[in-house]
Amino acid sequence: MLHSLTQLSSLLSDLPEGQLFVLTDSHTAEYCLPILVDSIGQIPYHLLTIEAGEQSKNLASVQAVWDFMLKHRATREAVLINLGGGMITDLGGFAAATYMRGIRFVNIPTTLLAMVDASSGGKTGIDYQGIKNVIGTFTPPMATLIHSDFLRTLPAAELLSGFAEMLKHALIASPKEWIKLLQLAQEELPQEQFVETLSSTGALQASIQIKENIVSQDPHEASLRKILNFGHTIGHAIESTTLEYNTQNSKFKIQNSPSHGYCVLWGMVAEVYLSVVHTDCPREVLQQLTQIMLQWYGKPQCDCKQRNQLIHRMYQDKKNSANQTPNFTLLRNIGEPIINQHLTEEDINEALEYLFNL
Ligand SMILES: NC(=O)c1ccc[n+]([C@@H]2O[C@H](COP(=O)([O-])OP(=O)(O)OC[C@H]3O[C@@H](n4cnc5c(N)ncnc54)[C@H](O)[C@@H]3O)[C@@H](O)[C@H]2O)c1
Ligand SMILES: [Zn+2]
Repeated sequence: MLHSLTQLSSLLSDLPEGQLFVLTDSHTAEYCLPILVDSIGQIPYHLLTIEAGEQSKNLASVQAVWDFMLKHRATREAVLINLGGGMITDLGGFAAATYMRGIRFVNIPTTLLAMVDASSGGKTGIDYQGIKNVIGTFTPPMATLIHSDFLRTLPAAELLSGFAEMLKHALIASPKEWIKLLQLAQEELPQEQFVETLSSTGALQASIQIKENIVSQDPHEASLRKILNFGHTIGHAIESTTLEYNTQNSKFKIQNSPSHGYCVLWGMVAEVYLSVVHTDCPREVLQQLTQIMLQWYGKPQCDCKQRNQLIHRMYQDKKNSANQTPNFTLLRNIGEPIINQHLTEEDINEALEYLFNL
């Protein structure tokens, strides 16, 4: 259920003494916690802060949360507030879902990506052995509280990361929202105004609603929910390839490894290309999305040499059934996704070639 931050104290009204826990990362502790503390009011809470960044979404951090909760005698009545981006809502959700077979948690997303995507829908999890989100559960939060003012301190690149998921929601579900976002993307918007426009045009709410509608019809991703994977078969492969490199070469981390939304944006460009070639998807959609990519996101840093590794990743993707080729969601048109599309290695290569040669 979506609520605003003002509803927090009523959500916590039945909470026993000493049973409120707050999880932040090092950035949200600084930028967002003061706002949350105002909303919590007089209720005492235990605070655990994890280092910011995707590399913290691991088993050691889950253990840190479990240890912290045990140390402070968290019972089954406890509530964990996850205050942060998708790293924190995924990690905290997983820790809460598994502590004492599951305690309640509230997601308070502080990035655009987490607001429109990661904080709702019930997927929790961590990265393991360099594979994104390979360990996790389907466990819905007791509530997701949206407070768009958090976005004011978010770096521009993180805003763009979330904007990519908004583009995805529009592409799979709403030609009307797509036009709205195209207009937004055509303007050189300073950050303040961008955040303001996202709220005032209703684009933020609409995007959240699109995801909620899809998930409510298919919470466990039996079929319909797979449309949300649009852009992610190739996007995840790009993201995992960078993550594995960073995990294995810890002394030589790739600086500025691209965030989830950038990888999804690149994945969508390649998958719209596949949609144009293999379905009736109008070429205009590819041109519009490519234009947004070149204007705002730049080109992916993976080069042609890494193409084989990317394809290998796609074959490993947990969304494939055993012995299957990668599973794609393609678009017949805006708002007309088609799931379970299987393509050959040659087809995928061609799409990667389009993406890398832009
Ligand atoms: N569960 C799902 O359905 C789902 C969906 C999409 C993505 N995800 C996951 O979400 C994660 C990515 O989420 P993300 O992009 O939010 O990353 P993130 O949580 O790492 O946040 C990005 C950066 O922004 C900082 N930050 C957060 N809020 C801030 C604020 N208000 N002001 C200033 N800085 C702030 C963070 O500290 C971090 O440095 C990935 O792990 C991805 O797998 C999950
Ligand atoms: Zn995503």
